[in-house]
Amino acid sequence: MAPITTIEHLGQFEGQDVTLRGWLYNLRESGKLLFPIFRDGTGLVQGVMAKNAVAPEIFETVKGLTQESSVIVHGKVRADKRAPGGFELDLASVDVVQKVSEDTPYPISLKDHGVEFLMEHRHLWLRSPRQVAILRIRSEIERAMHDFFYSRDFTRTDPPILTPAACEGTSTLFPVDYFEEQAYLTQSGQLYIEATAMALGKVYSFGPTFRAEKSKTRRHLTEFWMIEPEVAYATLDDIMRLAEDFITFIVKRVLETRRHELSVIGRDVAPLEKIEAPFPRVSYDEAVKMLDEGFAKGELESKFEYGNDFGSPDETYISSKFDRPVMIHRYPSAVKAFYMEPDPEDLTKALCVDVLAPEGYGEVIGGSQRMGSYERLLERIKQHELPEDAFQWYLDLRKYGGVPHSGFGMGLERAVAWICKLDHVRETIPFPRMLNRMYP
Ligand code: 4AD
Ligand code: MG
Repeated sequence: MAPITTIEHLGQFEGQDVTLRGWLYNLRESGKLLFPIFRDGTGLVQGVMAKNAVAPEIFETVKGLTQESSVIVHGKVRADKRAPGGFELDLASVDVVQKVSEDTPYPISLKDHGVEFLMEHRHLWLRSPRQVAILRIRSEIERAMHDFFYSRDFTRTDPPILTPAACEGTSTLFPVDYFEEQAYLTQSGQLYIEATAMALGKVYSFGPTFRAEKSKTRRHLTEFWMIEPEVAYATLDDIMRLAEDFITFIVKRVLETRRHELSVIGRDVAPLEKIEAPFPRVSYDEAVKMLDEGFAKGELESKFEYGNDFGSPDETYISSKFDRPVMIHRYPSAVKAFYMEPDPEDLTKALCVDVLAPEGYGEVIGGSQRMGSYERLLERIKQHELPEDAFQWYLDLRKYGGVPHSGFGMGLERAVAWICKLDHVRETIPFPRMLNRMYP
């Protein structure tokens, strides 16, 4: 029996018979030759079958194969410089596992389809080489995240998904009927990992988070995955350094292990190769000056109103001035979440940071130093009209051995969109949940 392998490992079997298990991607015919292309999730490989080299029924079987029929393929690996992966397969035989009926052909052909059609067939669209490459990069980023935090002695702790209160503001909560009570899907694990940080020192969480935002932009999902470190005794400066090391680590890893996938999606890697710490640090006030100058030079359409949060065009403009991620710190407290520590130098500002990705991708990370004082936090909770009862436990963290602590959250999908240079976050997750989409 020939060894079973996968397309990405064919190189180890040059000159040998192998078995591949996958699907028919495409089939070309030229006279008495068949050139089926197979895929198996790790790549594409072209097979070659000559009419006079195999039994007639084997030839006819392959000749009759339909797109996406599942097949087990037997053949000999041959090096071929012109082949995309460097190898071809001289086919001996093909076992058909399930043939796609000619009456109901695979709906996604190799020609272009509109995005709405593809989204409606997302369960099948996932099989295309581009989508496979994106998901392999996403998976590598996930692995790199865990490696990064483990190598720095963080403990992963998992916060709840059902929560009694808001973390990032009440306007974007998904309500859930929790027996007799009202619950919400979590917007962030942060408040809970502040508690586990007080137990374990350095922690992180990674899980799904939900925002009932009515935003229909290329950056917003209603369900997305967030990685959040939280560190006891860390200041804003400490987590800014952590954030830049973290991003640098992830980008390097993808460049090391997923070059092939980056080339499949046509990603120019030159901008990624420039990602090195340190990242520029720009205060909110300095960023506003940049926007004012941009407006004066006619590079921006509207004048930025001091005190507001940055919108997408503002973020894009600021980040376009740098060739690596830029860290904007100390926004006005009024536009940020209730839990942020005020800047002792200017109490109207928060000790917070947004990391904007280059190439126009905007915010990928949001973080801050957390409010230390019990009284001030209680005041904020009241100001924001948050339910005091639901936050009693959170206030306790300031009553029993409170320490300065800080953390940040990175939306995985935003990071994948940037690293893959995609137009929209909808392609970064197998089944995106958006304002106007819950199917499939
Ligand atoms: O800036 P955000 O809202 O910060 C927090 O949730 C903090 N509690 C994190 C922390 O300090 N532990 O969200 C963090 C990141 C954003 O920078 C962005 O990358 C991503 O989460 N994000 C979204 N991604 C996709 N769709 C959305 N609707 C997102 N909202 C936030
Ligand atoms: Mg944010």
